[in-house]
Amino acid sequence: MSRAQLLIDTDPGVDDALAILMAHAHADIAGLSIAAGNVGLGHTVRNALTLVDLLGTSVPVFAGCATPLVRAASEDAALVHGQDGFGDIGFPEPVSRAHHEAAALALLRLTRERPGELTLVALGPLTNLALALRLDPDLPGRVARLVIMGGAVTGHGNTGNVPAEFNIGFDPEAAHVVFEAFAAFDLVDWEATLRHGFADAQFDDWLAAGDQRAAFFAKIVGAARRYNAEHDRVGVVAADALAMAVALDPSIVTRSETRAVAIELDGRLTRGATVVDWAGRLGRPAQANIVLDVDQDRFAAMVRRALGDAR
Ligand code: BDR
Ligand code: CA
Repeated sequence: MSRAQLLIDTDPGVDDALAILMAHAHADIAGLSIAAGNVGLGHTVRNALTLVDLLGTSVPVFAGCATPLVRAASEDAALVHGQDGFGDIGFPEPVSRAHHEAAALALLRLTRERPGELTLVALGPLTNLALALRLDPDLPGRVARLVIMGGAVTGHGNTGNVPAEFNIGFDPEAAHVVFEAFAAFDLVDWEATLRHGFADAQFDDWLAAGDQRAAFFAKIVGAARRYNAEHDRVGVVAADALAMAVALDPSIVTRSETRAVAIELDGRLTRGATVVDWAGRLGRPAQANIVLDVDQDRFAAMVRRALGDAR
């Protein structure tokens, strides 16, 4: 299989970091466009640059919007990822620098330079992508695929608005723009994430067998593992890594359903929910290929190699 060609929109973030390690190990990365989300934009850009330094690559990093499109976000995810988004380890200032081009403009330019070639992987709030779509509605026609980590397709979300998942709940208007604009995309939701965690002992074994990437990830994942253990999340759960696995190799999907999915923009308790028309009652085009299960062993193999475990 030829290497996937990826354009990654992300808000690093611990599980974003694992996804980017996977992308680096298994694919070519045209660029990292950076969103605010897990923590503020200053931290997410810096974290992306820290990863670029770690990997010794020249992948360009583009800073995006510092806020959601319309309403201020009601929460971030610093409790899970640490105040700096990377477990509050205190990494030195990165050597790499962000490019001056805005993320939305970089998304448009890179897809114009390579029409039909790039798989767009969205691992954070969809603010940059929505802005790009408003500037150029032809964008969907220029990407090979879109894979989104977001949503909770039966309402088992992970935010204060209970049915909403974080990436969608952070910027529901942006998600609405994206979900309305693309005629087809893969959706990897929070509920699938919880079904595809890794046992702690197994993950520790991979970290011990890996190289400097594993040593780095072992540091930043500590806070998130503690948070998960205190919140009934079993083992290591990594939403963005699961989405990245689907982006890298769609054949790992063993069960999926294609349905119309819309975003709730109001709702006293439900703003940001992904509303799935499971029974096809509304007659709306079914645009979201909802990933329900993947081959866990193949997913694990991708993660292990990305951490440098060559056994
Ligand atoms: C998503 O929200 C973020 O905290 C993670 O990085 C992931 O993209 C999971 O709901
Ligand atoms: Ca993320």
